[in-house]
Amino acid sequence: MRSHYCGEITEALVEQDVTFCGWVHRRRDHGGVIFLDIRDRDGIVQVVFDPDIPESFNTADAVRSEYVVSITGKVRNRPEGTVNPNMKTGQIEVLGKQIQLLSKAETPAFPLDEYSDVGEDVRLKYRYLDLRRPEMQRNLVFRSKVNHLVRNYLEQNGFLDIETPILTRATPEGARDYLVPSRTHEGQFFALPQSPQLFKQLLMVSGMDRYYQIAKCFRDEDLRADRQPEFTQIDLEASFVDEEDIMGLTEGMIQHIFKTLKDVDLGTFPRMSFAEAQERFGSDKPDLRIPLELVDVGDLMAEVEFKVFSAPAKDPKGRVAALKVPKGSELTRKQIDDYTKFVGIYGAKGLAYIKVNDKADLENGLQSPIVKFLPENVRQAILDRTAAENGDLIFFGADQTKVVNEALGALRVKLGEDLNLYTAEWAPLWVVDFPMFEELDGGKLTALHHPFTQPSTDVTALKDSPVEALSRAYDMVLNGVELGGGSIRIHDTDMQKQVFEVLGIGEEEAKEKFGFLLDALQFGAPPHGGLAFGLDRLIMLMVGASSIREVIAFPKTQTAACPMTQAPGTVSQAQLRELNIRLREKAKSE
Ligand code: AMO
Ligand code: AMP
Repeated sequence: MRSHYCGEITEALVEQDVTFCGWVHRRRDHGGVIFLDIRDRDGIVQVVFDPDIPESFNTADAVRSEYVVSITGKVRNRPEGTVNPNMKTGQIEVLGKQIQLLSKAETPAFPLDEYSDVGEDVRLKYRYLDLRRPEMQRNLVFRSKVNHLVRNYLEQNGFLDIETPILTRATPEGARDYLVPSRTHEGQFFALPQSPQLFKQLLMVSGMDRYYQIAKCFRDEDLRADRQPEFTQIDLEASFVDEEDIMGLTEGMIQHIFKTLKDVDLGTFPRMSFAEAQERFGSDKPDLRIPLELVDVGDLMAEVEFKVFSAPAKDPKGRVAALKVPKGSELTRKQIDDYTKFVGIYGAKGLAYIKVNDKADLENGLQSPIVKFLPENVRQAILDRTAAENGDLIFFGADQTKVVNEALGALRVKLGEDLNLYTAEWAPLWVVDFPMFEELDGGKLTALHHPFTQPSTDVTALKDSPVEALSRAYDMVLNGVELGGGSIRIHDTDMQKQVFEVLGIGEEEAKEKFGFLLDALQFGAPPHGGLAFGLDRLIMLMVGASSIREVIAFPKTQTAACPMTQAPGTVSQAQLRELNIRLREKAKSE
């Protein structure tokens, strides 16, 4: 039906006849001449109809926004002064000869020719219209290109694309499962995979050696800008490898994608231990574009008269940390109050600060609600340790270490954003040496990565002091976003059993949940490891989108629903009966 996509019609085609199809992006009537901007996936081209050919002119006159047309015409240079250098096709226009109306359109629910302030619910309800917008098309084209590069890169490195089941059993990534009732097994349920973790390990036991999959994962968890209930991983696993192999391979892949699609050299990724990341940045996914750092001042505060500071300073599980903001004394009272509210979200009970007006005058040069509690030697030590200059502001957090890290870690990122403190466009890194377990409130331990991750210690050491054990896990972080994570796995049954024991998963429960994996480990399991990237997050960062919903064709809302298909929906009594399910009265009436 066409000779060219709209975006392909450039100066090179001047004087030639072209035929193209697309949507009427805009129609303008300029005193007897009709201008149509026609849009397709590839771009927008301007077409002019003059009254010389009445039939075509009348059709062009009658079309409206989003009508679908096919046009044949001759390419010509735009008259001087009307060239649009911002458009790929801005040098030329097409003199329309024939126009065929292929499909009419109702007035769209929102205008597509500008970035208009439409609510996301409306955009998602009419997603097929929303996806017509050039920026959405660009995002999906970009995503397709990344997929292609990933496949090529991994295939070239000997990885096999193998699909794993969607109807399966619970997989242990720590979120809630999406369940699917079984009709043929009354009262039983499949779980949708939270990741292909168990299957990819089994593929290693089966000798496939190198596996990858662009895999759908399902997690029923609280949603945010970078989380969806259904999302995509670039999932991979390899045998006879150590962490250097996996990190080298995947770092190479991300570098290759950035170089090819953005002409960006990411360079070698620095590595940082989990402990250092927490101490310096209050986060296990530090945004290294921002130069601010947390500085411990607990030792200076242990004896001060301000209990809010001295108590956590003396508590082994507490922390008192400072965060210096260069030129921060320009922050207003209102801004500081807003930041105090902000850290409240993370459980901080306040946000003390010192404005350094004159660092030489310890008595009157420091403006602060807490400085009265601090003797001069402590004031001086704080200024020295934070290397504060006149005009700087120092924030303080004092609480349980976890609260201080989360609050000041988030504040650091927010200040970076608000004050535009970025020193680089891209800041990738690896975070390594994660603790194997994390202590939940109440003392119970949970696996920080997942229970199949190989601890860095042996079985006895793990048994004796599980909290101290580190694991062979690694996360790739880019601009403060956890892009991917993985680990070297346990490949012997004794270690696996010990990890389950520490987690309080009894033998029966382990057998019932992961028996097939424990069995498989007894039949000759090779050492193996892998990693999974969040594909949506990678694309979001690369295209500069604010949410992964902008790079997913048909995402769910923040409440895990689809306004377009109205999923999830109710089902008929007959279907429920077939599944042997009866809804409780409350659920029925809701
Ligand atoms: P993990 O749970 O860290 O590891 O997930 C890997 C990556 O997937 C992305 N991700 C998400 N993206 C969008 N929405 C979500 N709800 C969501 N949850 C996770 C993140 C994350 O880094 N099986 C292991 C991997 C392995 O060990 O090989 C796993 O799934 O970018
Ligand atoms: P208050 O004694 O409650 O008036 O607090 C004095 C100052 O300390 C205020 O600026 C509070 O925001 C701040 N503050 C209170 N609790 C904390 C805390 N846990 N960490 C950091 N600053 C705090």
